[in-house]
Amino acid sequence: MAAKTEKLLQVKNLKKYFNVSRKDVLKAVDGVTFDVYKGETLGLVGESGCGKSTTGRTIIRLYDPTEGEVIFDGQDVGGKLNRNEKKNLSKRMQMIFQDPYASLNPRMMVKDIIAEGIDIHHLAKSPKERIERVYEMLETVGLNREHANRYPHEFSGGQRQRIGIARALAVDPDFIIADEPISALDVSIQAQVVNLMQELQEKQGLTYLFIAHDLSMVKHISDRVGVMYLGNMAELASSDDVYGHPLHPYTQSLLSAIPVADPKIERTRERIILEGDVPSPIDPPSGCRFRTRCPFAMDICAKVRPKWHEAEKNHWVACHLHDEEIKTENV
Ligand SMILES: Nc1ncnc2c1ncn2[C@@H]1O[C@H](COP(=O)(O)OP(=O)(O)OP(=O)(O)O)[C@@H](O)[C@H]1O
Ligand SMILES: [Mg+2]
Repeated sequence: MAAKTEKLLQVKNLKKYFNVSRKDVLKAVDGVTFDVYKGETLGLVGESGCGKSTTGRTIIRLYDPTEGEVIFDGQDVGGKLNRNEKKNLSKRMQMIFQDPYASLNPRMMVKDIIAEGIDIHHLAKSPKERIERVYEMLETVGLNREHANRYPHEFSGGQRQRIGIARALAVDPDFIIADEPISALDVSIQAQVVNLMQELQEKQGLTYLFIAHDLSMVKHISDRVGVMYLGNMAELASSDDVYGHPLHPYTQSLLSAIPVADPKIERTRERIILEGDVPSPIDPPSGCRFRTRCPFAMDICAKVRPKWHEAEKNHWVACHLHDEEIKTENV
């Protein structure tokens, strides 16, 4: 696969804090930096609560960023946006949600769910054009026009997710943030939805930020993968590098938790078992956030936040073990 190098999205030092009580601030996303290239799928993984959804929701402006920059197709969309600018953004960026049960309005017919964006952006000149577009979308996602007059509860989980995809596609976006789009589906259905998303990507040149819980889920669809831990990005590289040559101890531990099919290897392979729980994002550890669970933690890890840097070509990591400057200082 040829490397995709044209940047569609640039996220720079993005932060999203929530005031959860009078004195407590929850740092859900605390300074993440990454690019998404045109036409690629960037997988975003990490344990529950590490800030994946908040990252996605802040990029698409369901939340306002606390700090940092979001640049989409060369335009700064992270600052204050007026209604028109928000509307324009929502035409080019769409989101698919985890729970196809909760994300579709049960009182709306499928045709009106799918046409929501068409109506908002006035993309159909007549009712006929509107319904034709709905039919086209239904067929694009593997459903058919007879489904237009039904309600969400009449569909299976996989079909509902197809409706969610049709709704996102109806406005002809460039970029789709898929927030765990297959986690709530039966394993047998997951592959079908992933295949559909890949087909659509190829046909329509879509770019995906694909959020998932674990590395095994995004392996086959991601060009590159980013691994988050407690509001930070730990590592980001091509899928081959993340799976074959992970640098961050956290990524290594996530990978070692995935069972290997070959029983011989499974019995003898080395595992990194993490001790303890993920600390609270209200009072995260000083320095490196992962240090309290890291088997390789050094003194400096408590004192200095590791730099997010390109340790190897196109391989980003935030870990003192891989920071050349630190290594030379310590000799
Ligand atoms: N609206 C909110 N108000 C306050 N805290 C929030 C809000 N949304 C998320 N959080 C907190 O921010 C942190 C990150 O949550 P987020 O939902 O982004 O994680 P996630 O990685 O998507 O997790 P999951 O895998 O469970 O979906 C969590 O501690 C969560 O409790
Ligand atoms: Mg989430």
